[in-house]
Amino acid sequence: MRVTVNRKAHFNAAHRLYNCDWSDDRNIEVFGKCANPNYHGHNYELIVSVTGNIHPETGFVMDMKILKELIKTEIEEQFDHKNLNEEVAEFAKLNPTTENISIVIWNKLRTKIDKNLDLSVTLYETPRNFVTFKGDN
Ligand code: NI
Repeated sequence: MRVTVNRKAHFNAAHRLYNCDWSDDRNIEVFGKCANPNYHGHNYELIVSVTGNIHPETGFVMDMKILKELIKTEIEEQFDHKNLNEEVAEFAKLNPTTENISIVIWNKLRTKIDKNLDLSVTLYETPRNFVTFKGDN
């Protein structure tokens, strides 16, 4: 039986949506206030979901203490109270949309989680706008 366990996390971060190959006018047309050169912040809510078989000895799909610690060190400590464009290397040239942030988070966690477990990342930029990434296959 494959079961999904979920862990919620949170970080505050600033960003600016901007395509450096475009003019300022084009950026404002597409990204609106999100292209503001002075940046703006969001309270990001993150849900990390891990799916797999229940281990017969522990009864766990994954030890939630380990997942909690992984999210803390790999994501929260890297992103919380940061300017994503300026301070997080992955976004030096990558537009920090919710879509792209989700992929970056998924890639950071994927290497640290057992290959037999499936990983899904859901990221809320606002209470009503959220994105899910489950990998590319
Ligand atoms: Ni924004």
